[in-house]
Amino acid sequence: MRVILVGFGNLGRGLSRVLVQKASFLHRSHGLITRVVAVVDEFGSVVDEKGLNLNELLKVAEKKGTVVAYKGGKRGKLALKVIDDVEADVVYDLTPTNIKTGEPGLTHIKRAMREGKHVITSNKGPLVVAFRELDSLAKRCGVEFRYSASVGGAIPVVGLAKKLLAGNEIHEIRGVLNGTTNYILTRMSKEGAPFEVVLREAKELGIAEKDPTLDIEGIDTACKITILANSLLGMNARLKEVKRAGIARVRPEAIRLAQEAGYTIKLIGIAKRGSLEVGPKLVPLGHPLAVGGTLNAVTFKLDLAREISITGFGAGPKETSSSLLGDLIDIHRTLGG
Ligand SMILES: NC(=O)c1ccc[n+]([C@@H]2O[C@H](COP(=O)([O-])OP(=O)(O)OC[C@H]3O[C@@H](n4cnc5c(N)ncnc54)[C@H](OP(=O)(O)O)[C@@H]3O)[C@@H](O)[C@H]2O)c1
Repeated sequence: MRVILVGFGNLGRGLSRVLVQKASFLHRSHGLITRVVAVVDEFGSVVDEKGLNLNELLKVAEKKGTVVAYKGGKRGKLALKVIDDVEADVVYDLTPTNIKTGEPGLTHIKRAMREGKHVITSNKGPLVVAFRELDSLAKRCGVEFRYSASVGGAIPVVGLAKKLLAGNEIHEIRGVLNGTTNYILTRMSKEGAPFEVVLREAKELGIAEKDPTLDIEGIDTACKITILANSLLGMNARLKEVKRAGIARVRPEAIRLAQEAGYTIKLIGIAKRGSLEVGPKLVPLGHPLAVGGTLNAVTFKLDLAREISITGFGAGPKETSSSLLGDLIDIHRTLGG
């Protein structure tokens, strides 16, 4: 499979490392040979239709901060030109999330589909802004569209529901879908420390971003709930339809009282037909959603299997590569490989 990577940050580089490390495994186990024929970042691009040497590219990009510094690298906003001009089977859009416009990923994804290229993305922005449009565009263009890494990082939430649980009707999806807020609530419950103190430490440790608004106000979780509602419940939901509360008003005393009664407090996203919601909720101690630290977890309520829960790492370049690579293998198999 010839692959174009648009975005060469944490995930683009993480996936490239994994493609190098797993080259012979992928060939042996899946009959899959990947060739990364172009890489694009914000500054420019590098193309080699015979396949880039990813080890060398990683070294240069890490040292110089851009792929432009690699031999043959070109400067400029080149993503669309590369998507148009370079022959490839799959385009990965791994660019930053913008939940208002979906850009730049939205335009990359549409262009790739119209060019007859399959698309894999980890970017919530385009999915939140235009899920239905992208889903039908992919069908009209006859291309595969995968986005496993956009919700739950390494956890195969979408694949589990769409494939292995396909015989079930999904009544409800409930999840801890944001590692930063889960870390903060876990520490508040273990140490009895106030929200503001734990948030400050989380920022110092690099677990929370400098501006953690999207996380603590529950917006990131609401985006993921919107994606799950649209992709797994067949809805046409908009982000603004998600009823939302964040964690800033959760007090240590509330967590202590909850614990005395056998519960913990988690920021939970809930998707069911007719109601989408994010907010702090009581979760019984020992329940699969009562995960600690930065872990994520999802529980499906189903007509046949009743309840299925899944837990894992919701972020991280290596962990998320599990989903990014899984999507590639899935497309390879779908195409008969
Ligand atoms: N990190 C995770 O664990 C994780 C997990 C799940 C989902 N995600 C999502 O996956 C996406 C990528 O995450 P990340 O952590 O890799 O982000 P990142 O480290 O910020 O990397 C983003 C990359 O996109 C490039 N870029 C920005 N604008 C571009 C444009 N117009 N054309 C081409 N490239 C452009 C950036 O280039 P420069 O470096 O030149 O600025 C950078 O290489 C985000 O949407 C994120 O929300 C991340």
